[in-house]
Parts: sequence; C-alpha cells; structure tokens
Amino acid sequence: MQPQVKPQNPNFSSGPCSKRPGYDVSKLALETLGRSHRSSLGKTVLAEVCEETAKVLGLPEGYRVGVVPGSDTGAVEMAMWSLLGARGVDVLAWESFGSGWVTDITKQLKLQDVIIREAEYGELPNLDEVNFDNDVVFTYNGTTSGVKVPNGDWIPADRNGLTICDATSAVFAMEMPWEKLDVVTYSWQKVLGGEGAHGMLILSPRAVERLETYTPPWPMPKLFRMTKGGKLVDGIFRGETINTPSMLCVADYLDALNWVKSLGGVEASIAKSQSNLAVIERYVEQNDWIEFLAQDPALRSNTSVCLTLKATPDQVKAIVKLLDKEGIAYDIGAYRDAPAGLRLWAGATVEAADLEALMPWIGWAYQEVTQG
Ligand SMILES: Cc1ncc(COP(=O)(O)O)c(C=O)c1O
Repeated sequence: MQPQVKPQNPNFSSGPCSKRPGYDVSKLALETLGRSHRSSLGKTVLAEVCEETAKVLGLPEGYRVGVVPGSDTGAVEMAMWSLLGARGVDVLAWESFGSGWVTDITKQLKLQDVIIREAEYGELPNLDEVNFDNDVVFTYNGTTSGVKVPNGDWIPADRNGLTICDATSAVFAMEMPWEKLDVVTYSWQKVLGGEGAHGMLILSPRAVERLETYTPPWPMPKLFRMTKGGKLVDGIFRGETINTPSMLCVADYLDALNWVKSLGGVEASIAKSQSNLAVIERYVEQNDWIEFLAQDPALRSNTSVCLTLKATPDQVKAIVKLLDKEGIAYDIGAYRDAPAGLRLWAGATVEAADLEALMPWIGWAYQEVTQG
C-alpha cells in the first residue's frame, strides 16, 4: 500500500544538507553584501564567526578558529600540508574520504614514514593499534559508510604526535573530545545546512606550536600559508581571511549558528540528530530486508546513515529513482564508491517527523521495485 503521508521536506542529502526548518534566505543579515570583507563591518562579522563558533562549540581555552578557502577539503589539506612531515604519520581510512587523505599523504606529499590503517565499508580499523608518537590523521564520521569513531577514549591525553581530524559530518552532531583533537575541520554545508565554499579550521595550542617550530620542505601555496617568519598569522583566526570569502555564505553561517543556539545549543542539535537516528533504527528493527551498513550500533553514524537492502544494485537505483520521482526523498543513493544502498541524512536540520514519514515510503518503493 502506498503510504498517505509524505515528508514535508524531501531533502535528505548528505551534503549540501537540508536547510534548517524555517530557513528563509530573505531573512539573512545581508548588510555586508557589496562591502569589502576588510572593511570594519566585514572584519567585525568575520570575527564574530570565529568567536561565536568557539562559544557555541565550547572550545577549550587557547583553541583557535579560522575561516579558510575550499570547504572541508581546503581545511584538511591546509592542515596536512602545513603540519605533516615532522613525524611519522598514522592515517586511518574506512571509506572514501579517509582514502582521499591517504592518497594526499602517500602520493602527493609522498611521505615515507606512514602507517595506513584501513577497514572495509561498515567497519572501523583497530583503534587500539594507533601509534600516537606519530601524527594521526582520521575522519570522525565516515560520511560514505555511516561509520563513526565511538568517542575520543582511544586517544591518549599525553600523545606526542598531533591528531588531525576531518570532522565535517560530526561537528554539531556528535560530542567532540576537543582536548584530544589538535586539528578539527568542518564545512558549513553539512550538519548546519549552510553553504559550501568555506572550511572551518580549529587548532589546538599544540598545533600552533608545530606551525611555529616546523617548516615543511615542500612549496606552500598562498592559500595554505598560516605562518609568516615562523610566527602564526593570528589574523586568520580573528576573521582576517587569507583571501576573499563569500559574505553571503558568512551571513548564512551566522544564521545557522543562531539556529543552533535557539535549539538549546550544541547538546540540543546532537540530541535531535540522535532522535532522528532512532526513527530509522526502529524501522530497521521491524524489517528484515533493510540493514545498517555499520553493524556495531556504537559505531553507527547519527548523521550519514547508510543502509543496505536485500536487493540488487540496479534495484536499489530504481528505488532511489522512484522516491525522487514521487517527491518523497532526494539524493538518498549511497555514495558512488560505497556499497549499493541508501544514505539518509539525520543531522539536526532534518525533522524526525519527515524521517517517520519517509521510512514507510522506502518500504513501499522496495516492494514496488522488487516485487512489482
Ligand atoms: C568526511 C568528509 N570529508 C571531506 C568531505 C569534503 O567536503 P567538502 O566538499 O565540503 O570539501 C566530505 C564531504 O562530503 C566528507 O563527508
């Protein structure tokens, strides 16, 4: 039977993710548009981005926040190009984005002293084996497999290397062990439903110390340069961006931060995302033709929820297409390198009621395609 209730918002993409409920582009604070980002107004607003981010996320004293070019990729690569090479590297990969960082480290930076710790889609490498005398590069939540690290307990407080964490689909949705993380990156287009283009780079005091005491042997593009004469360019972390940002995207980000505050802060956005996952979990428990790609519930992402079906890859494609055609769900096919399946975004910009409405439609589409 075709369900009666449709999701009010069919946007379940894992990036760019759904705009927040009630989002209205005409309500953004746009007085910065058409003005220089280096005007006192532009600088004030960009400084607010850094300060508000630190406040809302509850960053430890001394952590710095900068807006950098190139979305999350830009932020991760800027960190790797600036920091790596001083020590050996342990790099963890269990899905496509982590594998991309392995390629950067081994094929682009051509580092020699590298341990690659990989796992298949749906699993995590053995975290107990990681060597923290090395710098450690990892993804907090593997967006394309729906597998996250369970917490920061596996990271020692007294590590010698730096931890460099791509946390783009985790920040604002998962409790981040900030003290255990020396570099954290994310983009606005994920959990906050903001825009692409800019990345956020968060640095611990230890990461800053590395920047000021180590110069990598390779050329550093201007877009990646965070130091001058051996000193951190502090302005970057007060809103003096390296190059010109989109002030429209900046206004959109501040709107998203205000929305997080209005929910009750980051604890509330985390809780909302967890309740969203619970909706999907209830449905999966009741149906034997659908499963989580992440078998272990402790590792199950509460943002990019990856599901496999008892169906062929072509049938899965047909299900995705049918739900799109019916206006029920857009962009829910698994990532191109991941096993065939569905990927539903469950971050806080998605409403539980929409997921409640969606799940029976997935069941309907499954029946239509596999038995119809
Ligand atoms: C874990 C992870 N890293 C990096 C990226 C790349 O992000 P961006 O396109 O914002 O640079 C994504 C995007 O989905 C991601 O999920």
